[in-house]
Amino acid sequence: MEHSALSRLIVVSNRISAPAPEGAASQGGLAMAISAALRQSSGIWFGWSGNAIDEFTGQISMQREAGVTIATIDLEAQDIDEYYNGYANRTLWPLFHYRIDLTQYERSFGEAYARVNKRFADTLLPLIGPDDIVWIQDYHLIPLGRELRERGVKNAIGFFLHIPWPARELILTLPRHRQLVESLFHYDVVGFHTEEWKAAFQSYVINDADGMALSDGRLTAFGRTVRPGAFPIGIDAQGFKDLIQSPVAQESYDRIIESKAGRKMLLGVDRLDYSKGIDERLLAYERLLTDSPELRRQIFLLQISTYTRSEVTAYQDMIERLDSISGRINGAHAEMDWIPIRNVHRMHSREELAGIYRAADVALVTPLRDGMNLVAKEFVAAQDEANPGVLVLSRFAGAAWQMRDALIVNPFSQEDVSDAVKRALAMPLKERQSRWRALMDGVERDDINAWRDNFVAAMHEARDQGRKPPRPRIAAARKDG
Ligand code: G6P
Repeated sequence: MEHSALSRLIVVSNRISAPAPEGAASQGGLAMAISAALRQSSGIWFGWSGNAIDEFTGQISMQREAGVTIATIDLEAQDIDEYYNGYANRTLWPLFHYRIDLTQYERSFGEAYARVNKRFADTLLPLIGPDDIVWIQDYHLIPLGRELRERGVKNAIGFFLHIPWPARELILTLPRHRQLVESLFHYDVVGFHTEEWKAAFQSYVINDADGMALSDGRLTAFGRTVRPGAFPIGIDAQGFKDLIQSPVAQESYDRIIESKAGRKMLLGVDRLDYSKGIDERLLAYERLLTDSPELRRQIFLLQISTYTRSEVTAYQDMIERLDSISGRINGAHAEMDWIPIRNVHRMHSREELAGIYRAADVALVTPLRDGMNLVAKEFVAAQDEANPGVLVLSRFAGAAWQMRDALIVNPFSQEDVSDAVKRALAMPLKERQSRWRALMDGVERDDINAWRDNFVAAMHEARDQGRKPPRPRIAAARKDG
């Protein structure tokens, strides 16, 4: 990657998770991705501290952690309630994951979303140098680019959406949907994980915003032009392989192997979220136990689901539902020396998870809708190439666009998932190895560095294009002559 010395990368996201010191609690995929992306540059990561204050001050607190400058602001309790728990997680998240039944369309949420994005813009503005490239992350901050432009920022600004872009029929249910989409046209580059999400965005622009696709792939609408692109995010593949060697990973691996007592382990690892299809997965597993009694006692499911967004009712409901379904299945099927589901809510460190992934025989990554899903990639990176586990992957995860050698399933069909698990359990070693090799090649090639480099290169290109002197107007000159 070529950067001019003065050109820093400024990454902005709602939540900041400082690069983790060893042994710290596990970070989500997004946090890992951002830390890895900034570590190699002298970049700044700007976002919300996670703290609430009585009245917004705009005061930035700066710290340097593992080679990255972290700049954070505090938000008012009302902002957190209406912007983060409200518009972000009660409106956009369910809507963009195809759950209009869970979507709340409250005006006060929309107002807070606009207010907080303005607050981000006001505080970020003085940190932006003339050659910096600003890269804004995710659905919390869609209007931030427009707010910065309104404050005179001419820098290249890119936006990356970490969640799906929904079909146009869904986004039309959002009051002021045009305004939301229009704000994306203030970016130079707008990135999605897959061609599918990009196409859905394009379909809205053309059908609902009188827009046009140009021959070079850019889109025009609202009197502006933007370059949409598919930039599938990856993991820090090398870093993850190194984690496997850590004593903590080794210990969790040993603990699982011992507790398996010769049984095969199916594994699910998710943030507890209705988009992840955890209930449906448990029901598919129950179906498997009922339809294939010969597998009982031979297998068990370790489902690790960490509780997040606890202020939002849909998440509170989930934890109760999950516990009740897994309790019911265990009650109905368990024997004195065998439990079909280990239902775990505890957080695990990345090292522990690496060991757990490696000890699993089958990973069940079966979201109903997911922007990408990095658990699928981490599971692959953690495997022993001599005896790799099998990945069962939902066709509705962005990852399915790249990970074609997984067993691709329809997570809405219990029979489909149950058949795939049976196939995975019976898969000959040679096939497991060849599928794993193909998956691992992709995970290593399309890693977090490739994602960062491709997006940053697209932003540089957009900036350079914008700086080119205007072409001589040959046609006009001829006419004059
Ligand atoms: C997803 C989103 C991220 C978000 C993460 C954790 O990956 O795309 O933007 O940070 O979930 O969710 P939380 O609400 O806990 O930040």
